[in-house]
Amino acid sequence: MTSEKEIIARLGDLPSLPTVAARINAEIESDAMSAKLLGAIISEDSSLTARILRLANSAFYGMPRQIASIERAVMVLGFDTVKNLALSLSIFSFFKAGKSPAIDVTGLWNHSLGVAVSARALIRRTNPKLAEQAFLLGILHDIGKVVLVSQALADLERVARLIQEGLSQGEAEVQVFGFTHQRLGALLAKEWKFPDCFASGVKLHHDLPPETNGLDEQTAQLTRALGVANQLAKALLLGVSTNPVRAPIPSLLWSYLGIGRESLPAMSAEIRDDYQKILRAWNME
Ligand SMILES: [Fe+2]
Ligand SMILES: [Fe+2]
Repeated sequence: MTSEKEIIARLGDLPSLPTVAARINAEIESDAMSAKLLGAIISEDSSLTARILRLANSAFYGMPRQIASIERAVMVLGFDTVKNLALSLSIFSFFKAGKSPAIDVTGLWNHSLGVAVSARALIRRTNPKLAEQAFLLGILHDIGKVVLVSQALADLERVARLIQEGLSQGEAEVQVFGFTHQRLGALLAKEWKFPDCFASGVKLHHDLPPETNGLDEQTAQLTRALGVANQLAKALLLGVSTNPVRAPIPSLLWSYLGIGRESLPAMSAEIRDDYQKILRAWNME
């Protein structure tokens, strides 16, 4: 199997996370983060501040009154939501920069929004504390593909052709690159200092069910929710994945998530509604 060093050598340098997001992750990693510090870091960037406030005031969050400052946003939406909006906007910058006639990057971003709202809805029933992390994981899960658009587009087009010829996405990626987009994504999550659960979730998002031995319970829950959300977003036609093939979701995964067949129609309707709202909010970006 290709080592992490070989992946980096194949791609040249890995891209870095935008400054504000890198600072947020570094402060969290060193345990120095607080609501006050988060507000201060974001407020130094006036354009990011304005974009966060625009999203915070969108129908997706449904706040009854206008949120006029980052401090207020942290108070009413919570630290995690505001932090994750800042990180999501940073990840979005890679999608915005990735242009290709062969790969629908906007569709892939919309797919990521679909996976984010699906993962959030799936985990909210059993562990609402993980809802915001699940959302961010959805935003991040296909980042490997997006980085390949900017760093190895011609090869990515070869992958697309091999998939059309009948190879699975994983087989095609390994044949062309020697690694999958989920491995590259996990490496980026690690390099960018996201907490460990993000690298695990990204790495395992096509494994249904994922091998959760050795993972802590929260990471296992997030990883399962992400894998299901990725397929659910495709089933509900939320955005456009570069790999439209849908993998079946084992019933074991539904039961881990505490979701019975009878609750699926209502949950799907809720996810569709969330998706329309979040799409409108992010379309202004
Ligand atoms: Fe993927
Ligand atoms: Fe995906």
